[in-house]
Order: sequence, then C-alpha cells, then structure tokens
Amino acid sequence: MTLAEKVGQLNMVTAHMADTGPGMAPLDLDAVRRGEVGSVFNLWGAENTARVQRVAVEETRLGIPLFFGFDVVHGHRTLFPVPIAEACAFDPDLWQRTAVHAARETSADGVDLTFAPMLDVSRDPRWGRMVESPGEDAWLGMRFAEAKVRGFQGDDIASPHAVAATAKHFAGYAASIAGRDYATVELSERTFREIHLPPFQSALAAGVAAIMPAFTDYSAVPLTGNAAILGDLLRQSWGFDGVILSDYGAIAELVPHGVAADLQDAATVALHAGVDIDMMGNAYLSGLEAAVEHGKVSIDLVDTAVVRVLRLKHALGLLDDPFRRMGENGTWEAIASKGRDLARDAARRSAVLLTNRSGTLPLASSGGPIVVAGPLANAWREMAGPWAGAVDLEQNVSLAFGLEQALPGRELRFPSEDEHGAAMADAETIVLCLGETAEMSGEATSRTKLDLDEDQRRLFDFAAGTGRPLVVVLFCGRPLTVPWIFERADAVVAAWFLGSEAGNALADVLTGAWNPSGRLSVSWPRDVGQIPIFYGQRPSGRPLGVDPKYSSRYIDSPNDPQFVFGHGLSYTAFEMSDLRLSATNLKVGESLEVSVDLRNSGDRAGEQTLMVFLRDPVASVSRPLLELRGFASVFLEPGDSESVSWTLGPEAFEGLDAGMRRTIEPGVFEVFVGPCADVEQLLKVSISIEEKTIN
Ligand code: NOJ
Repeated sequence: MTLAEKVGQLNMVTAHMADTGPGMAPLDLDAVRRGEVGSVFNLWGAENTARVQRVAVEETRLGIPLFFGFDVVHGHRTLFPVPIAEACAFDPDLWQRTAVHAARETSADGVDLTFAPMLDVSRDPRWGRMVESPGEDAWLGMRFAEAKVRGFQGDDIASPHAVAATAKHFAGYAASIAGRDYATVELSERTFREIHLPPFQSALAAGVAAIMPAFTDYSAVPLTGNAAILGDLLRQSWGFDGVILSDYGAIAELVPHGVAADLQDAATVALHAGVDIDMMGNAYLSGLEAAVEHGKVSIDLVDTAVVRVLRLKHALGLLDDPFRRMGENGTWEAIASKGRDLARDAARRSAVLLTNRSGTLPLASSGGPIVVAGPLANAWREMAGPWAGAVDLEQNVSLAFGLEQALPGRELRFPSEDEHGAAMADAETIVLCLGETAEMSGEATSRTKLDLDEDQRRLFDFAAGTGRPLVVVLFCGRPLTVPWIFERADAVVAAWFLGSEAGNALADVLTGAWNPSGRLSVSWPRDVGQIPIFYGQRPSGRPLGVDPKYSSRYIDSPNDPQFVFGHGLSYTAFEMSDLRLSATNLKVGESLEVSVDLRNSGDRAGEQTLMVFLRDPVASVSRPLLELRGFASVFLEPGDSESVSWTLGPEAFEGLDAGMRRTIEPGVFEVFVGPCADVEQLLKVSISIEEKTIN
C-alpha cells in the first residue's frame, strides 16, 4: 500500500442526504476511486451502498471494500423508544432484543456499523443529548452497554445479520459545563472513573468493535487528542484493540480547541493519541502524509491504525464478501414488518406513570366523551424523537390514532383550538398531549429553561380550569420542570419519544391494556436550579435537617427532586417484606445473596421492578448515599407473591480508594431493596465484611 492508500483507509466521509433519503450525488465517487475513502456513513439502502461498494472494489487499485456506518440510536426503519425512555424499562433482555432487531434492519439495508450505543451517564437535562443516553446511573448504564453491544453484534460481527457497535462518546461528555453542548467539561478524576467510565468498560467486556471519543475535553485535553485516556487507559490498561473513530470533524476541531496549530498538527496529535479513523475532519487526508514526511508521525503509527481498520473490515466479513449486507439478508421491508410488535412492547414498557390521583387512569372502555387535545395529540412524526435518519415518519402512530383503535366504544373528540371551550366543558376526561417537539432534544439542543411555551401553558390552564378530570401525556427527551402540571393535573404520563408504535403503546398504558411498569432512569428535577440532580450523591457534613439554617439546602426550593430515580406508578399495588441475606458476615471476595418477598396486593395483574442499592457508610473515602447494584422485574397476578433474589458478587462492594484503586474496605455495608431511590420506600439490612485471613 502506498502512504496515500493507507491514509485513505483512515478517512471516513458522509454521503449527504437528499430530501427524500440518502442521495448518491454529493458523495464524491472520484475520491472513492482515488482510494481516499475507507468508510462512508449516512448512506443506507442496499442498492445505494452496493453501488458505492462496487466503485471501491472494482475501480480502486487495491480493491479494498468500504464499510458503511450509520447512527442507529434507537432503531433503524422501525423505531424503538429513545434510549432515555428505553432505559426506564429496566429490562436488559428487552434492550438486547431491540438491538438485535435494529441490527437486522440495518444490516439488510447495506450498513455494517452503527454509531451506538451512546453511553454518556447523564445528570444534566439542560444537555439535550440526555435523550440518547441510558440516564443518570453508571450501573444501569453498564447493563445497557452490555445488552446493546451483544444485541447489535451477536456472537460474530461477520454475520450478515449483525452490525459492529461503537460505544460513544468516550467519556464524560454529559458533564459539559452548565449543560451546554460541546462546552468544556469539569470532572474530578473520581467522578470520571466511578461514573463515566464503567459503561464503556462493560461495552469492552461485551466485545464492542469501536469507540468514539467525545467532542469534549477531560482535564483540559480534548478526548480526540487525549493520549492519556485513549492510549494509556483505553488501549494499554483496558487492552482495547478495536477501532477508535473520531466524532464528526473532531480531529480538525483540535485546532479551535487550542491544542493544535493546523490540520497537520491535529492529525499528528490525534494519531498519537490512538484515533484510527478521521470522520469528516479532513485532517488525516490533508495532513498525515506531510506529518510523516516531516517526521512528526512514524509510518509504524500509520500502519497500526490501518491494520486496525482492515481488521475491522475482515471481522465484518467484508474482505470475504464486500456485499455481505447488501441483499443476502432479505429486504429490510420484510424484516421491519416483524418489528412492530416489539416496538409496541418496548414503548409501553418505557412510558412512566408519574402521577395518578383518585384512579383517574386507566380510561374505561365505556363512558362519556374524552377530549384529546394539545400540539402533540396527533403529531405522529414527532413520536420519532431525534435520530431517526432512515425512518418513514408517516408510519409512526400518534396517540390520537392509538386511542381511537383502543377505545372503539367511546366518543373521542379532537377539537380545534377554537372548539376547546365547548368540547372540554362537557368532557368526561381531558387528555392533553404536551411537551417538546422531536427536534428540541438531541445534539445541539441545550436549554436553560425546561418549561413549556406560553401557548401550552395557556391550554393547560384552560383545561385545568374546567375542573374535568385531566390527564397530561408529556412528550420529551429529558425531564421538564413543570411543577404546575404535576400540582394540577390528575394524572401525568412521561411519554418521552416512544418511536414507531408510540400511539398504540400509550393507548395501552392509558386504557390499562398494559399496566404501566416503567421507572425513571433519571431524577426529575422540580427546577432548573437543582441541576445537576441525581440520587447517588455523597453525604454532606451538614445534611438537610441538622439545622434549620446551616444545612445543605436551598432557601427557595426543597432539595429532593419532583420524582426520584426509579419512580413510576402502576394500576396495582405491591408490598415487600422479609428482606434477608444469605449471611450476616462475609469475607472479602465472597458473594452475597439478597432476597425479598413481593406481593401484588392490588386488584390488577402487573409488573414490579425492584432495585438493590448498597451503601458503605464508613470508608476511607466518602461513598455515595446509595449505589445501584441490581434490579429485577416480576409479573404478579393479584394476590400472588414471589420471592425475588439477587447475587451480589464481590465487585458489588468495591469502590475506589483514595489512590483510585478498586478495593473492598472491610466493615459494615447497608443493603437496601425497594422500588426506587427514595430511602423511605426501601427495606434495609446490614452486612459486615471482614478482612480475608490468609492461613
Ligand atoms: C455527531 C455526534 O456527536 C455523534 O454521536 C454521531 O455519531 C456523529 N455526529 C455522526 O452522525
């Protein structure tokens, strides 16, 4: 290979999309012919990718196939809930199944690799990308990472049904200062290691093929050029030998970041840090050859990156058959038609019933008229949320449509704005569909206010003023600070953006065809001023309540969130009892079994999620008040009981000591079990861990 051909393998370009789908024209096929392109993204459709692949294979000197990448963040042709919502299902099996299906559609569509899962532990809803993440908890993020990587990649990424996964954005991006996208990041080493890195370690353990560094910096060094994090930590210490591919233009952005003088310099810094592929930065293409000539970059370093890219192509089976994911797999249409049931199930498991006063929900199958109103009532396209590149939005189901299907025996009214007054006055129930539009969350959608606009507020006030039972369905990519809704509405459902089957799934939830089971994957603040807010805080020396004034508190707001991590109501009731442990004393290195009895004490069948938290109340470093270590969901008929158990391995008790070493500190640990991170709702027992005695 010539140096130019090597550099070409490290260059990834986008095929710009035409209005109606992926367009061929803007992709410079001559650049492909010249061997300047190693991979392409934003191109899908087996015929489209095959046409470009043919150029690479037949018209370049070496005939090396391209690989094709795409952002399959929550489904490809069939859309599943946005990740922040899907995380609320607390169901790794579901997360894996939706990724398997997404991989099937994606691979049938000529695409080899997805830029997912996104694993940024997110504690700041001002940051619009929270919508792409599995929420605020590292342990939940770890389970999400494993499930998604396994789902996308299967046992072998050579399979024509599998796609390579990319864990992104490595790491700490969600801590962008003040929630402003692409801004600098302030993180302690401890928070970086304890909270932001673990999901990536899980992705690695599950065999993830690629990693994408974050746009942002860690400790003043942009990740795309951060040799300590990409080189020493990810490659050396964790042993990652897959491909590191930059984010869009991120190598070139090392210049405005102020750590490179020009593109040549940026290319030098990024390659030294370990970035193999330059996505749209034009830095490797325009700068690497000169950097080698000037002795800034050794040819060995270039070769190492090229070998990684070729190895990925080999692992994807492309060197054997460059057209592997272009036809052999059946058409995406045939596969997509089988995804709707899964999309509906995933969606109804991801909705969270936030409030429900005096049994306002579920809606009965007969009765007086129901008025369905609000800007998102019949907004089928919006149900997609962000990152829905290949989706035919017309196939999405709105809530208005879903309710019509679900309630054939009831009169549903969809009044226009000037009919609201008359329609609402004699409604038996009002269902208001409020929230953000799809484009208000996702990349580059930071907000300083998380409230609703004036029009929606006016509509709500009007509906609330009628005194009729009022249900609010809240569409959003992050928690919205709307205490005025929670105070006055009789029931509120967090609908997020639930994807293709959103309307049917929400109708299932509102009518009780599905007894709601979703739990918040993120704390829901009352006010923007409480952000960042998350359950796993460290204790204060002056906790709330020790003194009316001099304790850790606000003078104008409660400390606690509107809804705690794990909050979510059901139409039935559950009771826990008899929390027990397999031992009262453990030796360091031993496992512990935790069990509790759960009973459905209500009058409907339903599913309950229970969580296990640990706390190490006295250690050499201050440990969080609660740390999630397990969860499980149980379906129970009314009156039925079941015992639920978890095995906590030794790693559950580990923490980072003052020297950042993973260690178990002997002493007392508290074990909590319950439905959410509110200590008042948790059962608690203690266990003592003793030093291991060496004979
Ligand atoms: C920028 C985003 O940060 C990243 O998540 C995405 O994969 C790339 N663009 C490619 O679309």
